[in-house]
Amino acid sequence: MEGNLSPDAITSNLETRFIGQRVIYYSRLTSTNEVAKQEAQAGAVEGTVVIAGKQTMGKGRRKRVWLSPKGNIALSVILYPDIAKLPSLIMLASLAVVRSIKAVTGLVAQIKWPNDVLINGKKVCGILIESNMLGDTVDYAVIGIGVNVNLSPSDFPEISSTATSLSNELGGEVSLLGLIRRLLVEIERLYLALLAGGTIYEEWRDGLVTLGKEVRVASGKTIYEGMAESVARDGSLLLRCSDGSLSKIVAGNVITYD
Ligand code: BTN
Repeated sequence: MEGNLSPDAITSNLETRFIGQRVIYYSRLTSTNEVAKQEAQAGAVEGTVVIAGKQTMGKGRRKRVWLSPKGNIALSVILYPDIAKLPSLIMLASLAVVRSIKAVTGLVAQIKWPNDVLINGKKVCGILIESNMLGDTVDYAVIGIGVNVNLSPSDFPEISSTATSLSNELGGEVSLLGLIRRLLVEIERLYLALLAGGTIYEEWRDGLVTLGKEVRVASGKTIYEGMAESVARDGSLLLRCSDGSLSKIVAGNVITYD
């Protein structure tokens, strides 16, 4: 299966203009985000994708480890957006994953704010966006996407109660190559829409499973509790607290549902 992930197999007749037209593939790598950041610093063309058969030090959000064995997707896409588009990358990445999962498997996934992708309440995909600024301009942004595709969660006790995979939901293997190619197409569609001045905010908001729920959110050292009322156009979460006040949370992690 891994042989299918050669750069040629990924790029051949890929219906994109630039996303995934250059692919750097490693069968085993520490972290695709780390290598993508080095490639971006060295001036890689926009849309370059770094992809790994497996990662040995996959990075999660909030300094967590991301489990990334063979059979899953671990890839990072290099972009050079202007600063105004940066907050939308969170929306773009999760929407591209939801769309491609639906197209390839028929499964309906939801987004847990800000950008975890869930199926039946369990995490199937994590997204880590890292960017570097030079003054007021974006030097580069790297969108790192990890999707549990052909993984048996019960083989990994550390995630077995919280994670799922596409094969687990479907009861059969899923084509990694097919899903990767579709993901690259969806990323480009959404990115071109953004560049053309369109908005992807409404589709992202409507895909959020978090809204309308009582949540606890860890943001830095602060814990917020309240009703997830809405999201702002910049992607931040609007939380109605028990005293009636509205907190705007720019970055955080939803840690429990009541
Ligand atoms: C999270 O949910 O905590 C984010 C997980 C992000 C994992 C992906 S896998 C590809 C890319 N390379 C990394 O080291 N991390 C991201």
